[in-house]
Amino acid sequence: MTELAELWGRAWDMLEAGLSQRDAPARLPVLATAGLGGGAEARMVVLRGADRAARRLEVHTDAASGKAAELARDPAATLLVWDPDAMLQLRLRVQVTLLPGDPRRWEAVPELSRAAYGGQPPPGVPLEHPGDWTAAPVISRHLALVCDLRVLEVLHLGRDLHRRARFSAGDSWLGGWVAP
Ligand SMILES: Cc1cc2nc3c(=O)[nH]c(=O)nc-3n(C[C@H](O)[C@H](O)[C@H](O)COP(=O)(O)O)c2cc1C
Repeated sequence: MTELAELWGRAWDMLEAGLSQRDAPARLPVLATAGLGGGAEARMVVLRGADRAARRLEVHTDAASGKAAELARDPAATLLVWDPDAMLQLRLRVQVTLLPGDPRRWEAVPELSRAAYGGQPPPGVPLEHPGDWTAAPVISRHLALVCDLRVLEVLHLGRDLHRRARFSAGDSWLGGWVAP
């Protein structure tokens, strides 16, 4: 196996570990989007899906959240993961499809976690007090962000050498080295 193929495999191992292990670094990627006001927005999310064969990731959110509006306007986003033990950064440029109210996905959300999908007033609305908010879970507010990979950049901070590789459909996902 080439070094590039090995790095590609390690990246997907890392992402898949984020699904099965609560303390895995890829459990909590940063999702960056183009903000409605012109700048960039970034926030932590939980990784809900990672499909190596389809090169697809998944994140769930409230359909009334700011990020949902941002992605509806511009579906190009980035997921970012850092694994300090492996000294690996994954930078995943993705194209996001918004999939609201899917019954199969909603059924799989544990009862206690459903409060994240619904609530009045909606996310980002100013409150007089933090308690001036009521959870109101509802399937129509559950939004799956299906993230199709466009470009994966892996940065390995080696002791002697920093190695940066870029993988994309343009090179049939074989990857190539770029200056770190
Ligand atoms: C550890 C952690 C995990 C989070 N997971 C999610 C998540 O899976 N989905 C989500 O929409 N927000 C999640 N959040 C909250 C977001 O970071 C963010 O505050 C919220 O979604 C509002 O973001 P927005 O206004 O940019 O849409 C998480 C926050 C933390 C600190």
